[in-house]
Amino acid sequence: MSATRKIIIDTDPGQDDAVAILLALASPELEILGLTAVAGNVPLKLTEKNARKICELAGKPETKVFAGAIRPLARSLVTAEEVHGQSGLNGPELPEPTMPLQAQYAVDFIVETLMKEDSGTVTLCPLGPLTNIALALIREPKIAPRIKEIVLMGGGFFEGGNVTPAAEFNIYVDPQAADVVLRSGVPIVMMPLDVTHKALTTGKRIAAFRDLGTRVGIATAEMLEFFERFDEEKYGTDGGPLHDPCVIAYLLKPELFKGRHCNVTVETASELTMGMTVIDWWGVTKRDKNATVMRDIDHDGFFALLVERLGRL
Ligand code: BDR
Ligand code: CA
Repeated sequence: MSATRKIIIDTDPGQDDAVAILLALASPELEILGLTAVAGNVPLKLTEKNARKICELAGKPETKVFAGAIRPLARSLVTAEEVHGQSGLNGPELPEPTMPLQAQYAVDFIVETLMKEDSGTVTLCPLGPLTNIALALIREPKIAPRIKEIVLMGGGFFEGGNVTPAAEFNIYVDPQAADVVLRSGVPIVMMPLDVTHKALTTGKRIAAFRDLGTRVGIATAEMLEFFERFDEEKYGTDGGPLHDPCVIAYLLKPELFKGRHCNVTVETASELTMGMTVIDWWGVTKRDKNATVMRDIDHDGFFALLVERLGRL
C-alpha cells in the first residue's frame, strides 16, 4: 500500500484554485491522479487552459488535465470575471501552455478511475461548481461507496453568501449538482466561507510568497494581489479570502481546521435564496448528518504551510 493519498482535483482556475493546485503539486503526501476542469469562474476553455498553465508553472507538465462540463446541470453558467479577470488568472504573465489536454472527458475519467482504483482509496477535491462530480455520480452510482471522501470548497452559513446574500459562488452556480453530491452518502468535508473568510491574504503574507524569489513565489504574489483587490473593497479587509487552498491544506494538516458533523441541505427552488447551504449547526432537525462543516482555521499555520510548500517548487 502506498503512503500517499490519491486525489482528483476538480477545479475552475481561478487564482485561489491555482494556489491550491500548486500546494498539491508541491506535496509528496499527495498523488494527483488528474485535474478535472469545470466551467465556473470563467468558461471551460479557459479553466482547462489555466489548469495546464499552473502545472507548467510548477514544473509538472506530466500532470493529467481533463476537460469536463461546459455548463451547470440545469441553470445557465454564471462566471466571475469581475473577481478573477478576463482570463481567470489575471495578475502574472504566464505563457500559453504546451502540455496536452487529455482526450478523455473529465466525467469519464472520474468514473473510470474510481472503478479501477481500490475502493476507498481515492479522495475527490472539488474547488469549483460541483457539475463534474454530480455527473459522475449520476452516470455510475457504483462510484459513491468507492470514494474515500469528498473535501470541497463551497457554501457558507453564519457568514452568509458572497455572490448573493444567501449563496456562495460554487454552490450558486450549480445548486442541483451540489444537491446530488450532498445526498450521495459519500463522506463530505466542507470548507465554507465561514472558514475561508478567516484566511486573508494580508500584505505581509503576500510578501512572504514574493520573498521566496522563485518563479512560483513571484507568480503567486502577483496572482493574489490581483485576486484580493475585489474582496478588499467589498469587505474592507487587509487581504482577500484564500478559499480553495483550504481543501488541500486539510488533506495535509487537518489539525489546522475545526468544525462539526451536521446536516447540510441546499436550496434549489427559491430564486431569492438559490444555492444557499442550510447548515444544521445546532442539530435542530432530525435530518441525517451528511457533512463535516469547518468553521475555524489556524490561519497563521495555514499560510506557513503554503509558503513552505510553494518554496519547494
Ligand atoms: C469560490 O468561488 C470562486 O470564485 C473561488 O475560486 C472559490 O472556489 C469562493 O466562493
Ligand atoms: Ca474555485
